[in-house]
Amino acid sequence: MHEANTAAQADTTTQANTTAQVNTEQWAQEIADKIIAKMRVVAERNQHTVPYTTGEDGRFDDHSAPGAINWWTNGFWGGLMWQLHHATGDDLYRTIAEELEGKLDAVLMNYDGLDHDNGFKWLPTAVADWRETGNQASRNRALLAAANMAGRFNTAGNFIRAWNSWDGEPNTGRAIIDCMMNLPLLYWASTELDDPRFKQIAVAHANTAQQRFVRADGSVRHIIDFDPATGEYLGSQGGQGYGHGSSWTRGQAWAIYGFALSYIHTQDPQYLDTAKRVANYFIANTPANGLIPVDFRQPENVTWEDSTAAAIAACGMLEIAKQCEGETEADARIYRDAALRLLKALADNRVLWDEGHDNLLTHCTAAYHDKDHEFAIIYGDYYFVEAIWKLTGRELFIW
Ligand code: GLY
Repeated sequence: MHEANTAAQADTTTQANTTAQVNTEQWAQEIADKIIAKMRVVAERNQHTVPYTTGEDGRFDDHSAPGAINWWTNGFWGGLMWQLHHATGDDLYRTIAEELEGKLDAVLMNYDGLDHDNGFKWLPTAVADWRETGNQASRNRALLAAANMAGRFNTAGNFIRAWNSWDGEPNTGRAIIDCMMNLPLLYWASTELDDPRFKQIAVAHANTAQQRFVRADGSVRHIIDFDPATGEYLGSQGGQGYGHGSSWTRGQAWAIYGFALSYIHTQDPQYLDTAKRVANYFIANTPANGLIPVDFRQPENVTWEDSTAAAIAACGMLEIAKQCEGETEADARIYRDAALRLLKALADNRVLWDEGHDNLLTHCTAAYHDKDHEFAIIYGDYYFVEAIWKLTGRELFIW
């Protein structure tokens, strides 16, 4: 009798899981259809732009001009076009992505325009192009970008220098958590050239990041300063978050996805453990409405959100879930459900589905102490689409 009850219970659980999976697939499919319908119109009218945000008229701005073209986010419109091309086969997207990739050559030929964000610029453009079409010129661009990035490695402190000099600050000994997302350019180059040097640098940086950025509670620092000559650890800064000791949500999201990616490229289980630890912290701090603040430790009376953090964290959690499938099914379900909760909160409350606005996501924030908050940001749209593509099996894996 007891055994029969247990078996019946197991059947009911399996049935409930299957129903939930079918509902999720249906939901994701509907969202994907809405994205494709809107983005065809948006792409058509933004064929020659390099967007970052929108103006008051809801239309994208353009970062194509000299100087502006160096901005770290300029690869994401190209990445969005490659994801849409991969999903639909529509050549409009390919043409737009190729034009943008060509514009980034001005950055590749400008030493001061290059920094650790070479990953954000050339993974969604040149590497995506290479993976999608086999274009040799794209491969060459991405390898040059990887070689430049590898040249930023500091052997005394085992970290990749983040930014160049800025506002009089030399930044020579500065590393930031965001760099975890740029490491895949180095992993890719090692595979492509069958040369372990790039991967060795990525692993050395990832190990330093694990040790210095991730706190015992699973929260993550944004900026770490080292003495660039000796490698001595000097301290941390709040960076784009609320302040010293705080928990900038996009930084947490970069860590979740970035450590998951280092696991995918190395199979070293410590990176997956770290990704899970930061994800657990993120899940535990997610508000009841599923909408993510700019900093988990911002003052209670501040309501600023950052939808980009939600979209990036969802991508990272879905990758963690994929790595757990078949091994630890209960873990896979936890991270998949957490990602879904973030994505549904965005889709229901923070996406503009009309074709009059160029952007998808609203309420994106670049930095806590900036003058402006809660606007459209192109990488928010990119990661939202990537997450939906992961759920519908359409993704072009670019990292
Ligand atoms: N990588 C800079 C940022 O996340 O704003």
